[in-house]
Amino acid sequence: MGVMSNPFVTSSQLAEARALLDRLIAQHPPGHALQREFQTDPGIYQLDLERIWRRGWLFAGHTCQVRRPGDFFVFDVDTDSIIVIRGDDGRVHALHNTCRHRGMKVCQAESGHVTRIVCPYHQWSYARNGELMACGGMDRDGDLDRRDFGLHRVHVREVGGLVFVCLADDPIPFDGAGAALGALLRPQGLERAKVAATRSYEVRANWKLVWENNRECWHCNVNHPQYVKANYDNAPIDDPALKREIEAQARATSARLEAGLAIDYQEAGLVRFPSPDSWWSINRTPLVPGWVSESMDGRPVAPVMGDYPSRDVGTLRMRTMPNFWNHSSCDHGVSTRLAPAGPQKTLVQVQWLVSEDAVEGRDYQLDALLPFWQLTSEQDWDLCEKNQVGVNSSAFTPGPYSTKHEYNVIRYTEWYLHEIAKPSRVCRPAG
Ligand code: FES
Ligand SMILES: [Fe+2]
Repeated sequence: MGVMSNPFVTSSQLAEARALLDRLIAQHPPGHALQREFQTDPGIYQLDLERIWRRGWLFAGHTCQVRRPGDFFVFDVDTDSIIVIRGDDGRVHALHNTCRHRGMKVCQAESGHVTRIVCPYHQWSYARNGELMACGGMDRDGDLDRRDFGLHRVHVREVGGLVFVCLADDPIPFDGAGAALGALLRPQGLERAKVAATRSYEVRANWKLVWENNRECWHCNVNHPQYVKANYDNAPIDDPALKREIEAQARATSARLEAGLAIDYQEAGLVRFPSPDSWWSINRTPLVPGWVSESMDGRPVAPVMGDYPSRDVGTLRMRTMPNFWNHSSCDHGVSTRLAPAGPQKTLVQVQWLVSEDAVEGRDYQLDALLPFWQLTSEQDWDLCEKNQVGVNSSAFTPGPYSTKHEYNVIRYTEWYLHEIAKPSRVCRPAG
């Protein structure tokens, strides 16, 4: 079985990148932005792939995208392509999108439905769980044993309607994250949702700049006029009057939720990750008074989802490093998925989910459902691209983060440096 590594980089280039990384980590001034090479250098980008993207759990998509056996979608992570498909056994499988004959990319479509996965080159065909079913008679000719040539498997987990994959041979634990995410996701009913709309973007910025942007809302007042109307993220975290207002709302909303569910974040500002080394975080946060949905005017834009007893349930928010965040209101959810595609290119997919029974035109209108997060997302991509251009300047030097406004960026940068410093493990296909 072949070792998976970065095909466009030689081992001497990787050794050089590791030496550069060690130097950058040693020189990193705590509480400051990352040095320029982290956002520009091709070698550091390869180490990001090796030590973060091919090691951690990646959000791939939603279980409702593969509702029936044979439904599939493809998720590309740099040079790796992963087929996520519902098997005849009812389970979700994740398979490397590379033929076991001579490596052809077997699945060209981004999504669809198949009875078999047939390679377009010489028509080897695979069952919906990846097993090799036919190979032009090579098994009868004694050239191979079909059982040894299924599509390479990728580790996969489902929780609360979300599908996560891990490219590592030996994945980091998922169960703790799965239990925590599953408990809070349950009433949202994402497994009984459907994708109402998808928008895909090619953002000309390093994936880490996209996260830096996501992890603070200091930029929101000026750059997100829609978003700040609904949320407290941009408000001062230490304002006592605001804290009292949020706590009162949290109590009132929590009283309407069933036992075990509550508005559990009662501060202004963005929620922190539970610990510096945690790759996931999930909370229910308040919306401002009078708003029941992250929509342009705070009014509902679709039928109530899942098991919610009323519309006033705040916003369920989660984020998993390195590639996912979701905000879910009572009536819709919005998932954002990142994938690296180069040192200065990040592919972003934003998907809007509504209850599976909701009918477009009758129960929801896209022009009411989309604008809040479409505008906010596109405003952010523009900021990220301009940030990248400025970081590329020969005069760029990392400036200090604000402890009051950018506490989550500080935490994020610490998480990144902690992960990227871990030595690489050889990564092989799971089977
Ligand atoms: S490469 Fe797939 S059948 Fe030959
Ligand atoms: Fe933003």
